[in-house]
Amino acid sequence: MKVIIAETAEEMSRKAAEFFADRIRSKPDITLGLATGGTPENMYALLAEKCENEGLDFSHVKTYNLDEYAGLAPDHDQSYRYFMNVKLFNNLNIDKANTHVLSGQAEDLEKECAEFEQKIKEAGGVDLQLLGIGNNGHIAFNEPGSSSDSRTRVVDLTESTIKANSRFFENENDVPKQALSMGIGTIREANEILLIASGSGKADTVQQTLEGPVTEDVPASLVRDHDNITFIIDKEAASKLEGEY
Ligand code: PGA
Repeated sequence: MKVIIAETAEEMSRKAAEFFADRIRSKPDITLGLATGGTPENMYALLAEKCENEGLDFSHVKTYNLDEYAGLAPDHDQSYRYFMNVKLFNNLNIDKANTHVLSGQAEDLEKECAEFEQKIKEAGGVDLQLLGIGNNGHIAFNEPGSSSDSRTRVVDLTESTIKANSRFFENENDVPKQALSMGIGTIREANEILLIASGSGKADTVQQTLEGPVTEDVPASLVRDHDNITFIIDKEAASKLEGEY
């Protein structure tokens, strides 16, 4: 486990974008696992800049996203497919056919999840997986109680996640109650993981993730023993850590 503490959220984003750019340069046909949320937004803007100005080439890159809301159409402005298109894919020289986001509108959601797992396998697995972390310690939509060998599946969102995500919707009742999410077992199979976090609101969760017990109560703690995991967190998110990093 490697922990990098950045001075600011801006620096966290720069370091994370450089981390990704480095892996893409070394393996142009890399398979990336991607995340949504406020935390990666700026990193995605920086990757788009690198594509535009530095010739960082996404033409052979494949991507698989962690999760999607159940019931939202891909063109719904709160769907994660829409987020990824607007924040990243539309701004890269990536072939959209190589970008994979679970469909929240599939007729059979469990089948959609099983097929997604199969697609990742056929692609040879994820080389580099990006993770954010929820205020309650979730990774993707693996809420507290998710097991470390969980697979891609339909999940019920907790009240705290619905509340946290309601900031993106007109009102809390509009937030879907279920989602499709890669499992923790699925995430753990990536060759490499980068987890990013910023802001004082994440300080307790980051402390529990890195220094607390490994427990299903804090799903992010279940990946910290991955043999190739890096955390890039800003000073505020690191403010409650007790160890030296
Ligand atoms: P955030 O969400 O980046 O919007 O804080 C992270 C998460 O819920 O995984």
